[in-house]
Amino acid sequence: MRDPAPKTIYLADYTPPAYWVDDVHLTFRLAPSSTRVVSRILFRPNPDAPGPFFLHGEALTTISVRIDGQPVSPTPVEGGIVCDVPDRPFTWEAEVEIDPQANTALEGLYLSGGMYCTQCEAEGFRKITYYPDRPDVMAPFTVRIEGDAPVLLSNGNPSGSGPGWSEWHDPWPKPAYLFALVAGNLVAHRDRFTTRSGRDVELAIWVREGDLHKCAFGMDALKRSMVWDERVYGREYDLDVFNIVAVDDFNMGAMENKGLNIFNASAVLASPDTATDANFERIESIIAHEYFHNWTGNRITCRDWFQLCLKEGLTVFRDQQFSADERSAPVKRIDDVLALRGRQFREDNGPLAHPVRPESFVEINNFYTATVYEKGAELIGMLRRLVGAQAYDRALQLYFERHDGQACTIEDWIAVFEDTTGRDLRQFKRWYSQAGTPRLDVTDSFEDGRYTLHFRQHTPPTPGQPDKDPLVIPVAVGLLAPSGEEVVSTTLLEMTEAEQSFAFDGLSARPVPSLLRGFSAPVILTRSADNAERAFLLAHDTDPFNRWEAGRALAKDALMRMVTDGAAPDAAFIEALGLLLDDDSLDPAFRALALHLPGQDDLAQSLFDAGVTPDPGAIHAACEAMADAMAEVLEQRLATIYDAMQVPGPYSPDASAAGRRALANGALSLLSRRDGAARAATQFAAADNMTQQLAGLAALVRRGRGEDALAAFYDQWRGDRLVLDKWFGLQPGLAQPQDAADVATRLTAHPDFDWKNPNRFRAVLGALAANAAGFHHPSGAAYTLMADWLIRLDPVNPQTAARMTTVFETWRRYDADRQALIADALERIAATPGLSRDTGEMVNRIRG
Ligand code: ARG
Ligand code: ZN
Repeated sequence: MRDPAPKTIYLADYTPPAYWVDDVHLTFRLAPSSTRVVSRILFRPNPDAPGPFFLHGEALTTISVRIDGQPVSPTPVEGGIVCDVPDRPFTWEAEVEIDPQANTALEGLYLSGGMYCTQCEAEGFRKITYYPDRPDVMAPFTVRIEGDAPVLLSNGNPSGSGPGWSEWHDPWPKPAYLFALVAGNLVAHRDRFTTRSGRDVELAIWVREGDLHKCAFGMDALKRSMVWDERVYGREYDLDVFNIVAVDDFNMGAMENKGLNIFNASAVLASPDTATDANFERIESIIAHEYFHNWTGNRITCRDWFQLCLKEGLTVFRDQQFSADERSAPVKRIDDVLALRGRQFREDNGPLAHPVRPESFVEINNFYTATVYEKGAELIGMLRRLVGAQAYDRALQLYFERHDGQACTIEDWIAVFEDTTGRDLRQFKRWYSQAGTPRLDVTDSFEDGRYTLHFRQHTPPTPGQPDKDPLVIPVAVGLLAPSGEEVVSTTLLEMTEAEQSFAFDGLSARPVPSLLRGFSAPVILTRSADNAERAFLLAHDTDPFNRWEAGRALAKDALMRMVTDGAAPDAAFIEALGLLLDDDSLDPAFRALALHLPGQDDLAQSLFDAGVTPDPGAIHAACEAMADAMAEVLEQRLATIYDAMQVPGPYSPDASAAGRRALANGALSLLSRRDGAARAATQFAAADNMTQQLAGLAALVRRGRGEDALAAFYDQWRGDRLVLDKWFGLQPGLAQPQDAADVATRLTAHPDFDWKNPNRFRAVLGALAANAAGFHHPSGAAYTLMADWLIRLDPVNPQTAARMTTVFETWRRYDADRQALIADALERIAATPGLSRDTGEMVNRIRG
């Protein structure tokens, strides 16, 4: 990590490996600070790409190295070793020593709460032993683990065990980033699954004893994922066991290691009393995501890390399809678009903008981004829309047939679509290389029964890409008659030019357009629609996404006028919202989404795009005033809804019950502005599940009446790490703008603030940053606190520190005073002696 002159790696420089690996045998002799790793690897020269024999290796103490049994002395070079080797296949044997105990970066082999575990993606295997640590080198692995822990796990199928050892064999060739090992005092929640061709698979979720009651939902989600992938993609599981392990200390959500998925405990453990509906939903999608990687990622992997979206975009798309099938598809789409706009558009419109397939990086871990994942998934959705669902299925079957066992590129991916459909996708491919969110300006005209839509697309410059070419944009459109009746049902317009018009004939009156239905492309649509048109769509659109979008546009327009012109809360918007809330034919989850005001960060970006320097304090005040007005005008309706949406009987995390709770809790939050938070206090005290308890607590804290409840919550849950994270996160997240930095400062001094645990660190500092008005309070106190903690975390855990620097990525939006304060914070981080390559790259890019 310490690197005085970090090197930039370029996609254009890719060369195939000089040596292939035919077999890997590893022996681990586990000891906390002196684990021995013995490797026996069969190498074979690659006649197509002759070159020196180089193996990656980092922080390894070499004990011995032999080639074909003869001791050799490899030469250390930057990032690994080189060695003279014979010009034929040979056996490499090395023994190295590593120190899992000292590994706080949580990359490679490390200890978490006394348990050994690994994280090798992207480039962690080189911290375990010498190896060509690149995804295009695939090999079968046999792993022997020796240690005194009762449970010793690795990839593949178990092939032997005895007291103090176990052996695993993974027959499927895989790259080293999918290697995993777990050893510890774990217990299993077990189940089984029979694949449709009759393979019996033993399933297990491994946890610490006290967490055994939190596994049932994850297991159920796993089995549903397995069924779904067979049914929808024809993909079956391919080993005799499938193991999932929950780990407390983990940099990311989870990892798809072959046959041995490792999960951040927060992404798998859930019980009704400790997890919210949102937690259950997230767990379901992450379990599915990691399981789906078995085919999209593992059986077919990436040639190099520039192709990361090949597996991540596709696997996110697949997990989104799964959740849409298991739950409400429109609600899922709205949630996904909210996340896309909140994280990916933010990234695409700032200094960190990069293509879905980047062309260079310093530290690949910095590119596990919303752009690679979420925009990557949108590209697949567009491709499916353009070629049609059936052609998509055929292309995917060809992909699996043609590329099983290979390490592939985006070119391979595009080729299966071109080959199955005969379409030329060269222009579509620009989506992979061109960064930035396209703007799509729309105007319309009507004459003699002909309605014409005129589109103009342009993508603003992004770092390193001043000029942009036109993209293929699938625009799903429907037309409504003034009566509200749909006269043209959803039609896909394919825009390919910078400017293009589409005409609809035979209309008796000027229609109202419903544009970009289902959010058919990841673009920012700009149209000077008036609010009457939006209210009309909110009332009549048949496309649920656009119905929601119309309400959101109304809310946004109202809030922006409050900020810029000091306008009063828009009565027409509140009235339209009231009608929607009363419409019992609408899914409660959908109504709950409509009740949520646009996020304050989103409003800041929209103001900035409109040429206004956003003031987070003013945005916060406008949102408060709007919520007050909504609560006042809609009080009766909200009270009725709150009562009607209570879910009787024992808690179930299913989508319909969760939707009712979401609507009830949305109402509760507003009602608390009227009833002195009386309902919230009652709900908090009576709750038998975390969703209700936390919503009650949040409403109390928001109203400044949370003190006793916070103390009670802490006493009740101090023994549960995941629930305590909620307690830590809620306070800076909901603090008043002027208090947020103080609240966070106080929490970082709390004895339970275990800052080396990424979940705990993010709970406090991440929540502070998410409180836009608090984070950007003009005092600059939050900026200072954030910089202090990033500087402290960086030497301990560069990956998590680097990721958190994105809290500053929007800094150019703000006024000169705030920019100066943030510039100081960034400068201070950049000037830290020994700053990691990870954080160094991020801070440089953010500073621009
Ligand atoms: N492949 C994992 C997933 O998408 C993410 C692992 C990323 N980890 C990292 N350290 N970069 O599920
Ligand atoms: Zn993934």
